[in-house]
Amino acid sequence: MKRLFVIIIVFLSSLATLIGCNQENSNKKLQNKIDSLQAKVNNAYVPGTGEIMSNIVLPHHYKLWLAGENKNWELAKYESHLLSGGFKRIQKFHRGTPEANNTPMIYPQLEAVDKAIKQHDINAFNSSFAVLTATCNTCHQATNYGVNIITVPTAKGSFDNQKF
Ligand code: HEC
Repeated sequence: MKRLFVIIIVFLSSLATLIGCNQENSNKKLQNKIDSLQAKVNNAYVPGTGEIMSNIVLPHHYKLWLAGENKNWELAKYESHLLSGGFKRIQKFHRGTPEANNTPMIYPQLEAVDKAIKQHDINAFNSSFAVLTATCNTCHQATNYGVNIITVPTAKGSFDNQKF
């Protein structure tokens, strides 16, 4: 009887060790997985504000103007949408920075441009585009990047690789 008792104890304790080992293994696996995911997050690509400005905002500001001047209202609407996408990315990827905090100043100006586009009104388009452009500079000054001065384009044709 005593012997049987000892056997049971030995069996149970080795079972506990086995379970403990497995637990330790799966914890280690989980930790490795977390570490590799954390490394991925740390290395994830985040576009810089300057990148968003020169790769998204600047070209779509220009294309928006070209489309409007050519009264291609459908294209103008599309360009305006892509331009606002640049600002949304600033708010998404740079939350809490001065540029993200200042971004809302641009939306009413974009809405005014959109209204002119909807009404196919070239005069309203030109005046709202000028205010939009002035607001680019207001924000550059507010964020201490006043060195970047944006102007309303004056000549057509720099993007001569696309039909407007
Ligand atoms: C919410 C604030 C804000 C608004 C609005 C804004 N910008 Fe900017 N812009 C910045 C900041 C901040 C920088 C500097 C980013 C950097 O260098 O990291 C910048 C830089 C730039 C640059 C220089 C980028 C480079 O790498 O050379 C251009 C071009 C530019 N903006 C175009 C525009 C245009 C066009 C508009 C309007 C349609 C506009 N920006 C509206 C904040 C703004």
